[in-house]
Amino acid sequence: MEFKVIHIDETDSTNRWLRAYMQAPRPLVPEGSYPESGEQAVVVVAEYQTAGKGCGENSWESERGKNLTFSVLLHPTEISANCQFRISEAVSVALCETIERFGVPKTSIKWPNDIYVGDRKICGILIENMLWGRIIDESIVGIGLNVNQKAFLSDAPNPVSIIQLTGKETDREALLQAFLKALSEAKEMEPEALGEAYRSRLYRKVGMYPFRDSKGGFEAKVLDVLDDGRLVLLDAEGKARIYSFKEVAFIIEN
Ligand code: BTN
Repeated sequence: MEFKVIHIDETDSTNRWLRAYMQAPRPLVPEGSYPESGEQAVVVVAEYQTAGKGCGENSWESERGKNLTFSVLLHPTEISANCQFRISEAVSVALCETIERFGVPKTSIKWPNDIYVGDRKICGILIENMLWGRIIDESIVGIGLNVNQKAFLSDAPNPVSIIQLTGKETDREALLQAFLKALSEAKEMEPEALGEAYRSRLYRKVGMYPFRDSKGGFEAKVLDVLDDGRLVLLDAEGKARIYSFKEVAFIIEN
């Protein structure tokens, strides 16, 4: 898979930028810039976002010029809408491998797709799919990876960066290129192997931890993630509980 990487200084959100770029009438962008004109996937990287989007209503804090804030436009036409969780799996696995290659020893995936080190979040992913019938036509994968930022000011819970963990500056361009290579490889994996790589990295698989759903708090551990992306927890009574996105919260001490 080839990537066309566009670096920009500032935008509101790279996800929004990429969507506008794709929707711009053809004459406004240079000939050959559209991904459908080749096998290239467009990647936009911003030094700073004025309104970076997090999941739900959250915003995404990132100090200017310190981290990686970027979005990748994928055309996963071979993935039907009910298999869209594969995109999350491929991106999460590729991120874990890349972050570890740059000196952070043990990453894990907090379902559905936050990348954690211990109980702290090093990377967030915001995937926005555009469906065409039951097929994913385009997928904008927005990634915020904390790299060289030494202090976090917002009220985001438990952030952490590579520099806080390794004590040294990381070359952001090398990190980006390593991730794009890892993503290409992950996308080529057989679905079973990719699912296994994703599940083997899940956060809170061993031990019992506090969770909360619409009925209140309880203790459980992560047992599995189904192919459609739903989370399976095993509670203290040995009962499996199955959740869709946003139906359950991990309770994490700060
Ligand atoms: C989360 O809340 O965990 C998701 C955070 C996603 C942040 C990234 S930064 C690049 C891209 N552009 C955005 O506006 N958001 C994503």
